[in-house]
Amino acid sequence: MTDGDWAIVTKDLRKSYRGRAAVDGLDLRVPAHGVHGFLGPNGSGKTTTIRMLLGLVRADSGRMRIFGTSVPRALPEVINRVGAIVESPKFFPTFTARRNLDLLARAIGAPRTAVEDVLDRTGLRDRANEPYRGYSLGMKQRLAIAATLLKSPDLLIFDEPTNGLDPAGIHEIRGTMRRLADEGHAVLVSSHILAEVEQVADTVSIIGRGRLLASGSVAEVVGDRSGAVRVGIADPDGAAQVLGTAGLVVRRDGEALVVEGERDPARVTYLLAQQGRYVNSLSQVGAGLESVFLELTSGHELGAPPHVAPEGGERS
Ligand SMILES: Nc1ncnc2c1ncn2[C@@H]1O[C@H](COP(=O)(O)OP(=O)(O)OP(=O)(O)O)[C@@H](O)[C@H]1O
Ligand SMILES: [Mg+2]
Repeated sequence: MTDGDWAIVTKDLRKSYRGRAAVDGLDLRVPAHGVHGFLGPNGSGKTTTIRMLLGLVRADSGRMRIFGTSVPRALPEVINRVGAIVESPKFFPTFTARRNLDLLARAIGAPRTAVEDVLDRTGLRDRANEPYRGYSLGMKQRLAIAATLLKSPDLLIFDEPTNGLDPAGIHEIRGTMRRLADEGHAVLVSSHILAEVEQVADTVSIIGRGRLLASGSVAEVVGDRSGAVRVGIADPDGAAQVLGTAGLVVRRDGEALVVEGERDPARVTYLLAQQGRYVNSLSQVGAGLESVFLELTSGHELGAPPHVAPEGGERS
């Protein structure tokens, strides 16, 4: 694939504030279709990255492309294909949602029909004639999305879109993102809360301290690291010896054994049965994006002392 096949490509992107790296050699690839979760703890560089992509902050070094177009150099060529909600947009509080959108549509030369269309797509049509100031946080967020949809962008960037929303609001925004992706838009959504993104994302990038720690489909990112088997067995020490001799990595966990990095429980039972040992219980543990996220980013959270986390997310 060439860079043009991706919605976003960054290479060795760097940005420091007062000598401290906010983005530290970030290589990011966001597919041109689907929802891409941009995940990392607080202060890991998500907003800074998005602001650099949008030309709001200047990168120290590195390369960035949006749909193959080099930014910020040629940003004007591609900016019309990008819609972003980075900060809460400014709407007139006493005007209705529809009037606010009308004004925006006129300002960017979007057709009048676009307003009704985006009101429909964000589910705001029924409340469109109420003044903005009476809107709930979730409705305000949906109006912000409606506003970015006016220019029908190919790529939508949401920086923590569910901040401050209640579970129902989060659910709604998630649904909106899914719908947009299904309509063919590329969606980049940042979050420090994995659970918010896990259910809607097709692919994810996980960053910590401004560096990429993992990326791929949710299944790939989880699958790469999942696969521990918990074994309940009489004489766990003896069983551990059998498995260890067979080359498996085994540790004691209470009265049970955990076989790390093993995805085939049948192999475990087979090896033990060969030695006349029979398991009482067997279960797979450890999978799930949440545990992968926590494992990858531990030591990468805001305020953690520097140099504690091993490079590249490899831990033992
Ligand atoms: N304008 C600025 N001046 C100084 N430091 C900044 C500035 N913007 C960001 N930083 C620092 O850069 C680092 C990355 O911040 P950034 O806002 O990109 O993180 P984030 O991943 O978006 O975090 P959050 O999840 O809290 O939104 C932080 O240490 C932050 O304090
Ligand atoms: Mg941020």
